[in-house]
Amino acid sequence: MSDPSFLRKRFVILISGQGSNMQKIVENCLADRCPADVLAVISNRPASTGLKWASERGIATQVVSHTDFSSRNTFDAALKSIIDQYSPDYVLLAGFMRVLTPEFVQHYAGRLVNIHPSLLPAFPGLHTHAQAIAKGVQAHGCTVHFVTPVLDHGPIIAQGVVPVLSEDTPESLAERVLTLEHIVYPQVAIWLAQGQVHLMPDQRVNVDAIHSRIFVSEQSV
Ligand code: GRF
Repeated sequence: MSDPSFLRKRFVILISGQGSNMQKIVENCLADRCPADVLAVISNRPASTGLKWASERGIATQVVSHTDFSSRNTFDAALKSIIDQYSPDYVLLAGFMRVLTPEFVQHYAGRLVNIHPSLLPAFPGLHTHAQAIAKGVQAHGCTVHFVTPVLDHGPIIAQGVVPVLSEDTPESLAERVLTLEHIVYPQVAIWLAQGQVHLMPDQRVNVDAIHSRIFVSEQSV
């Protein structure tokens, strides 16, 4: 391990839906492929199927429903107080579909990580796969990045690239990207757990002993 004072890192994962990225990270942690513990999985939606999956594996789960709060600030404050009960080293956003306030983001500066289904800085926001097809780009993918107050923006830790095929629909492209997300995000989680990821003063990322942080889909054009 690159960190001599090695202790298992503590993750809290936020989801909104199926949490397939969360599941891949948890599986690695439970199988000791990732030296971290997932202390809790939290969703803003009671119907998130990922909550049941995590609970069945003995992980604490909680719902903080945004509909119970009158403002973004009060929702984020409640979420923060629950997350902080677990003293996480990193908070991983994995399909968490809420815009977070600058105060929340600042509180977790350097510890808040997101996966976005595009090659940032292209296509922030929603409907990224449809945007990629509409623009005619030939390469699309996913980005794992530190979160800043600007939506879908921030120092890039790793990216995954897939081809866009002439017959692609937003759905087929989403499926190809998600398959790669399941490789990229778990690998970043391992680097985080091993203490290898450093945010540099110039706001770029360095990962100890890793020279290439691009992952390419096995499917060729
Ligand atoms: C993924 O494409 C993720 O990047 C996006 O939501 C999708 C579903 O993710 N933000 P998951 O299956 O809930 O992890």
